Amino acid sequence: MRLLLMGPPGAGKGTQAKFVAEHFGVPAISTGDIFRANVSEGTPLGIQAKAYMDKGEYVPDEVTNLMVRNRIDEPDAAPGFLLDGYPRTLAQVEELDGMIKHTGHQLDAVVVITADPEELVARLLQRAQVEGRADDTEDVIRRRQELYAAETEPLIAVYKERGLVHEVDGMGEVEDVTKRIFDALDVVPQS
Ligand code: AP5
Repeated sequence: MRLLLMGPPGAGKGTQAKFVAEHFGVPAISTGDIFRANVSEGTPLGIQAKAYMDKGEYVPDEVTNLMVRNRIDEPDAAPGFLLDGYPRTLAQVEELDGMIKHTGHQLDAVVVITADPEELVARLLQRAQVEGRADDTEDVIRRRQELYAAETEPLIAVYKERGLVHEVDGMGEVEDVTKRIFDALDVVPQS
């Protein structure tokens, strides 16, 4: 199973990725999490990424693409993967197409989580109080939303043309959203 989870900042991609990936027995690969791990470890990749992340800008495609390519090449991703937060640009879509084609497989589905933008600002400001993520300030959250609308939302049309998109309402309780995703993918969750 090769899946993408898309949606604006705070829509619940990371939260839902865990449940969906577990169901399919594939790794949930979050580019944001990989960047943050590198930032924490102070690696050259982390130092480079932090300059963009703190402002809510996208890390350059060539950096992100190479990182995803390396991650997908790891043995645990051979049976499939769920990508959370990648691709975000048209160049990343094209790169991912090449990576998947190279393995002789295809993309199975793209789940797009939708939600009210103001609810998402509130969620992320709430998270800031608990986790203190550097990019969860109101200005940066709004910049992330703006960039998502300009650069990433248009990708949904690309995947719609391929008949892969399942749009899911991300408002309400976490478990209700999970159920909607499983319903959209037409799978019966494990109890
Ligand atoms: P990334 O970490 O992916 O940030 P994001 O897309 O802005 O998304 P978030 O992680 O903030 O939100 P989410 O949708 O995963 O929601 P979550 O489940 O966490 O990327 C960070 C940065 O890395 C980017 O800005 C960019 O700089 C860089 N980057 C990453 N990928 C890149 C790429 N492909 N190309 C270039 N640069 C890239 O939930 C959010 C909060 O809401 C949590 O507190 C959660 O508990 C809560 N919550 C979740 N669901 C619900 C619910 N149903 N009801 C109430 N609260 C909920």
